Amino acid sequence: MFYHVKDLQYNARVSRPDPAFATLLLEQFGGANGELAAALRYFGQAFGAKNPYPDKYDLLMDIATEEFSHLEIVGATIQMLLTGINGDLKNAAESSDIMKLLNGKAAKEEVIHQGMVAPQFLIGSAGGPCYTNSQGVPWTAAYINGDATGELSADLRSNIGAESRAKMVYEYLLQFTEDPYVKETLRFLMTREVAHFQMFEAALATIQPNFPPGVLQSDPRFSNVYFNMSSGNDFAGPWSSGKTTQFGEEIQYVTDPITYVMETNGLLEHEAAGTDRTEAGVQKLNKELSRQKSSEVKSASPPGLMQWNKPLNAKKDNTKPHAKNGNSKASHAKK
Ligand SMILES: [Fe+2]
Repeated sequence: MFYHVKDLQYNARVSRPDPAFATLLLEQFGGANGELAAALRYFGQAFGAKNPYPDKYDLLMDIATEEFSHLEIVGATIQMLLTGINGDLKNAAESSDIMKLLNGKAAKEEVIHQGMVAPQFLIGSAGGPCYTNSQGVPWTAAYINGDATGELSADLRSNIGAESRAKMVYEYLLQFTEDPYVKETLRFLMTREVAHFQMFEAALATIQPNFPPGVLQSDPRFSNVYFNMSSGNDFAGPWSSGKTTQFGEEIQYVTDPITYVMETNGLLEHEAAGTDRTEAGVQKLNKELSRQKSSEVKSASPPGLMQWNKPLNAKKDNTKPHAKNGNSKASHAKK
């Protein structure tokens, strides 16, 4: 159930119209890393999470809903930055300021190019936000369609990346406005990306094991091999020597992959090295994890009558109510 509150989550303010910055800000309205993409990404992921992970469903829906609130803040800011455009366009027959500005082909092109005013503001939405990025490319679900894989540990990692990118777009946007009120709003939105990053990271840690994502273990022959696939100016780093980050296996550096691939009959004769993992161990773990993960999902959604709000047969979820947070006002924010 959605219930709309007409106040913004953060009371956005704008000193004066600035159509050029409104154009740049469209990137966070209908762009690849914008708020619409974020909201729909988490909203979509939440459905699949509901039964195996009711606690993560709660998290995903809370953050999805907050992202919709941010879409609203960005839209409201764009609208304020475009103040006057619609009125001036309605005044087409008269000599309004914008019409004077747009008088003659050269003047129009100057407004569009020098001012970077998105043409869609002038002839499409006539002074309101639209679901495009800053270059007028329409929003597309292709931005997020790979982000719900049915494996929450993969999706949460994707979300951490998405929050990082959104944070960077706000950081760059902040350099293109001098309006202290707009800066204040952008700083809030940027900060929430930092908050969400950490929440997704914490949620990922509650799923154990979470590496590699999914059920099937990696082939112990190849999970710690670094192929030096280019020549000249080779750099070394913890990715090419030492231990791997997750399994702690010793990295095997193949200096000359061409020769090595030839010598091993296309790696068929390559043998595992620098690892304690064995093929037998991997197969055993594959079976155990298959059983564990599929029983988690199946016991969360047993056959029979189903309902969404209070699953009838599902095992009790282990979520605890949000802890009361002393005298912090934030504790009133939830439940
Ligand atoms: Fe976010």
